Amino acid sequence: MQDKKIAGFSKMDKQAKIDWLSTHFLEEPTAATQELASFWHQDEDLQRILDGFSENTISNFPLPFGIAPNFMINGKVYAVPMVIEESSVVAAAASAAKFWLPLGGFHTEVVDTVKLGQLHFRWSGTTERWQALFPELEQRLRLEATHLTANMEKRGGGILRLDWLRKTEIAPDYYQLRVSFETCDSMGANFINSVLEQFGATLQQWASSAPELTQKERELQILMAILSNYTPDCVVKAWVECSMEDMQKTLKTGDDVRHFCQKFETAVNIAVHDPYRAVTHNKGIFNGIDSVVLATANDFRAIEACGHAYAARDGQYRSLSRCTIKGDTFRFELEIPLALGTVGGLTKLHPLAKMSLQILGQPSARELMQVIAATGLAQNFGALRSLVTTGIQAGHMKMHLQNILIHFGATPAQIEEAKVHFEDRTVSFTAVREFMAQYNTVQ
Ligand code: MEV
Repeated sequence: MQDKKIAGFSKMDKQAKIDWLSTHFLEEPTAATQELASFWHQDEDLQRILDGFSENTISNFPLPFGIAPNFMINGKVYAVPMVIEESSVVAAAASAAKFWLPLGGFHTEVVDTVKLGQLHFRWSGTTERWQALFPELEQRLRLEATHLTANMEKRGGGILRLDWLRKTEIAPDYYQLRVSFETCDSMGANFINSVLEQFGATLQQWASSAPELTQKERELQILMAILSNYTPDCVVKAWVECSMEDMQKTLKTGDDVRHFCQKFETAVNIAVHDPYRAVTHNKGIFNGIDSVVLATANDFRAIEACGHAYAARDGQYRSLSRCTIKGDTFRFELEIPLALGTVGGLTKLHPLAKMSLQILGQPSARELMQVIAATGLAQNFGALRSLVTTGIQAGHMKMHLQNILIHFGATPAQIEEAKVHFEDRTVSFTAVREFMAQYNTVQ
C-alpha cells in the first residue's frame, strides 16, 4: 500500500508539492499537474503575493467576480462588487436594487462600531478585593499598552472601556476582562489581540510583584487573550420603505400590490418565529453579505458567526430582517452586526479587493457596513419576492441552465440554442440531457 503520509510538506517548493500530490492522490498526474499550473497567474510577482496569503498553496481557485449595479443607498448610487459561485445571487441583488431605485432606494444607519476582546484568567482573590484593586490596575494596563494604542488613538480609536466579569459557573476562580475597542477603518483583529496579550503580560507581572497582594492573591493564571467575533454593538441598519400605491407602479400590471405585500410580510414573520425557515432566510441574506465581504477581502467566517449569534440573541434563532405594513406603508428592514475593515488585512494587498474598494469609491469601514447591509437586504428581498410569486426554481434553473449545459459539454452555439429552447420550458437536469441528446454527445 502506498504511504500517503508525508513529513516536511510545507518545506517543499510548489512544483515538488504538486508532484507528490499527483503521485499519491491524483488519477491522471500529468493532466492534473497541467490543470493546476493553468490557474497560476502569469504575473509571477502577483502569484507570489497570492501564494503568500496562505500556506502550502499549489494553485489559485477562481470564483466569479460580478457587479450588481443601481444600488441607491442614502441617495448615492453604487455598483456593488460581489464574489459568489451560486447562480442567480448577483442577478437577484441587481434586480432588487433596480426595483427599489424609483422607490427611494435603500436607507442605512450605523448604530455603533464597538469591537470586543476578552482576556480570560483565573485568580484566587475575592470579588471584593478585585473591585478594590481594579481601578489602579486598569490605569497600569492602559499605560503599559500605549506603545500599541498610540497610533490607533491618533486615528480616533483605541481602548474604549474595560469591564471585568466573574463567572463561577465556568470555574470558581474564573475571571474575565472584557475590553471594548474602536478600531476606525480597520477590522482590528491584530490590534485587539496584541493589546489583549499585552494586558495578559501586565496582569501576570502585577500579580507576581504588587506589594498590596497577599501570597494567595499572587496566584493568577492567564488562560487566553483573544478578540470576540461576537460584536452586538458593531451594528448597522438598512431599510426600504414606500407606499403601496408607489410600489403598484413598479409591479407588473395586474399584480395586486397589497396581496404581494401581505404575503411578503407573512413570509418574513415565518422566519421570525420558525428556526427551520429562519436559517434558510438568513442564508439568503448572507448570499448578498458574504459576496461583498469576500469581494473586499473581509473575514466572511467572522461575519457569518457573528450574524448567526445575533440572530439568536434572545435565545431563539430568528430572521435578521423584519417587515411591517402600517396603513399604506410597506417597510422592510435588516439589522445586523458587521465588523469590517477597509484598511489593513488583505483589503489593499489583494488586487481585486483593492479594485472592489475603488469601485465602491474608497469607502470608510462605516460606509462599507452600510453598503453590505443594503446588499443583504436586497438579496433577502429578491429571494422572498421570487418565493411568494413565481417560486425560486424558475429564475434559479434558468441561471443554472448554463452550468448544466457545460456539464454535458455543450458548445457556445448549442448553449445559445438551448437558451431559446428553454425560454418557455422548465429547466431540469433530465430536460437538458434530453435536449443535448440530439447532438449525440451525452452518454
Ligand atoms: C438560496 O441560496 C437562498 C434562498 O433559499 C433564500 C430563501 O429561501 O430566502 C432562496
